[in-house]
Amino acid sequence: MSEITRVLKTFIGYLKRPDLYPELGRKIIKNTVNRGNAFKGKEKTNSWAAERAVSQKQAISTLFGLETGHFRNEYQDVLSNAAQREKECPVKMGGPGALELIYYACEFANAQQVVETGVAYGWSSLASLLSLAKRNGTLYSSDMPYLAQDGDQYVGYVVPENLRSHWKLFRFADKESLPKIFSENAVFDVLHYDSDKSYNGRVWAYGELYKHLKKGGVFISDDIGDNSAYQDFCEKNNIETTVVEYEGKYIGVFIK
Ligand SMILES: C[S@@+](CC[C@H](N)C(=O)[O-])C[C@H]1O[C@@H](n2cnc3c(N)ncnc32)[C@H](O)[C@@H]1O
Repeated sequence: MSEITRVLKTFIGYLKRPDLYPELGRKIIKNTVNRGNAFKGKEKTNSWAAERAVSQKQAISTLFGLETGHFRNEYQDVLSNAAQREKECPVKMGGPGALELIYYACEFANAQQVVETGVAYGWSSLASLLSLAKRNGTLYSSDMPYLAQDGDQYVGYVVPENLRSHWKLFRFADKESLPKIFSENAVFDVLHYDSDKSYNGRVWAYGELYKHLKKGGVFISDDIGDNSAYQDFCEKNNIETTVVEYEGKYIGVFIK
């Protein structure tokens, strides 16, 4: 798909969804007056992250005191069925991230309530749900689909039917979804941020999500090397964070 076609399809996708008009306005500002925002402080943060990065396995062991072997063994079939679903999906989105980190964060926190931003195929949702289902817990997800691909119906495509009763999916931009989620449930055991990657988008959402994380809960953010929003957030709030390097990207994780 050419860039012009993608932009046009995205624009038409927005026009069909009046509930996403506020996000359309924010996107226009982001891509015109605020263009530098996506990469603000990127260089500084990449050297900061590289200095302290550990593996996913190491982070799970140090932070949660847990070993990682069980997840891939116990859920081998679920994970291979999910991979098959991803292959069959007509819409192409991003593949799985550090699933063990999310799953073991939920196990460590004995999670009953988890909030995540960014769903796409639903790999991260699947990781939380596999743990939450054991405690009859609930995952609250916020996701605005890739509008250029008309992908609404495929959001969360890899999540199997039997886990869906534990899942509440809010199909709006975070600025609209998160207040709706917080009005249904105010305190969370684990949060995973993986949606709007701009500096300003992160600063707003990190602050909101942090307020709703219980003491002892786990905060996880993907792609923290895109700009310095995560580093600046941690420094401002005196948070000692762990940085995980996973497939060439950095993930931030800490226990509140
Ligand atoms: C990287 S993907 C999520 C991947 C998923 N967490 C996983 O690990 O499988 C990012 C998702 O966030 C959505 N997104 C981007 N900006 C958003 C926003 N402002 N509000 C809600 N969702 C957004 C995208 O449409 C996409 O579905």
